[in-house]
Amino acid sequence: NNLETIVKGGTIATASDIFKADIGIRGGKIVAIAEALEGADEIIDATGRLVLPGGIDSHVHISQPSGEGIVMADDFDSATRSAAFGGNTTLMPFCFQEKGQSLREALAWYHCLAEGKCHVDVSFHLIVSDPTPQVLGQELPALAEEGYTSFKMFMTYDDLKLTDREILETMSAAKVSGARAMIHAENDDAIAFLRDQAELAGDIAPKFHASTRPVPVEREATHRAISLAEIAGVPLVVVHVSNREAMEEIARARARGLKIYGETCPQYLVLTAEDLDIPHGAKNVCSPPPRDQASQVACWEGIEQGIFSVFSSDHCPFRYEDTAGKKHPGGEKSFRWIPNGIPGVETRLPILFSEGVGKGRIDLRRFVELTATNHARLYGLYPQKGTIAIGSDADIVLWDPDMEMTITQDILHHGSDYTPYEGFRVTGWPVLTMVRGRTVVAGGRMPSADPVGMHIARSKPAA
Ligand code: URP
Ligand code: ZN
Ligand code: ZN
Repeated sequence: NNLETIVKGGTIATASDIFKADIGIRGGKIVAIAEALEGADEIIDATGRLVLPGGIDSHVHISQPSGEGIVMADDFDSATRSAAFGGNTTLMPFCFQEKGQSLREALAWYHCLAEGKCHVDVSFHLIVSDPTPQVLGQELPALAEEGYTSFKMFMTYDDLKLTDREILETMSAAKVSGARAMIHAENDDAIAFLRDQAELAGDIAPKFHASTRPVPVEREATHRAISLAEIAGVPLVVVHVSNREAMEEIARARARGLKIYGETCPQYLVLTAEDLDIPHGAKNVCSPPPRDQASQVACWEGIEQGIFSVFSSDHCPFRYEDTAGKKHPGGEKSFRWIPNGIPGVETRLPILFSEGVGKGRIDLRRFVELTATNHARLYGLYPQKGTIAIGSDADIVLWDPDMEMTITQDILHHGSDYTPYEGFRVTGWPVLTMVRGRTVVAGGRMPSADPVGMHIARSKPAA
């Protein structure tokens, strides 16, 4: 019963504790946590490093169809490689159901794309775009039993949006099946109205993407989504919250005892709508759009006060110098044709660590909770993942809290040809990423090209 690996001399941080200890690993699991462990085939020196549960990013889009002639910049190889370099050990990408497709057909396709390609573990959320009785009554409950225990609903986008009635029916299926419901909350009719008005006025530049999706669009839909969840009697995760008013809807619901959870993302902490009003502003088009400095402050408050449970990237990568990406030919005619989404799976942890822990806004335990533990709790992965504990998967990141880095495209590993955070300076960077006891990144390299990632079936999340 010799240990395979010991992570030695580091400072372990979990969502609840910070302490010095060694970690013993065998069979991909943590089997010992103690001072001065001895006797292993491999010793990893963690002196001067923080030892964190690997990042779990519960909001990433990989190889998702994004409109005619538009291709995402990452496949499962490059997205999970980028994730590993960014200190992540598990991704939760979306499996998108096209209208007319069964969920099983959609899953078969995504599994085929992911199989044997992943450098970190993955576990699919579903996107329900066609909530037929068969899908809600048969497929969702069966898939929840098989470990697909969460799904996202959309209130906007032609190919994805559900009516309020459909949302209620789908939420009810979440209740029956024990799956976790997530929602993209923006009022689609309001967006269409503002977009058509803007185009008529000749306002077609990327910055009008932001002005045609103003805060009330998100606030109203957030309020409505929460009301629908209350009516259906289900918990709900409101993803990618960008501003104070939407956040206050969540806070009010929580104060009333509803199980409403919020997610925010790096773009809402460090970008604003002005980043769409620059040359190549199309690069920063995402939905909801980044807002203003007051909204950044609000999102920090939500992080500090616990209104947000999870901090995700919403990694949704396109290439800029590519007509299949952000330079889609239609984009010249109107912002309407610019694919929504920005890359960020590799920069999520450094941005939150540097701006949050480094600047004294949150402590290290809250950092771990927001980037790993709560993702595992919300989506049925805890305690297999999301913590450092005996019996948990040895998903571990060594973090150098003092390393100063400037984020630039050329140090990143994603498939996009730009980063929205070009030139952004951070202190703190992941220096080693281990997935189930296998080192996948160390010292800026991948020791083996072997994709060690697996698909993980999840439990039903606890209410
Ligand atoms: O603009 C974004 N966020 N694109 C990704 C799809 C989504 O709505 O999450
Ligand atoms: Zn969304
Ligand atoms: Zn998204």
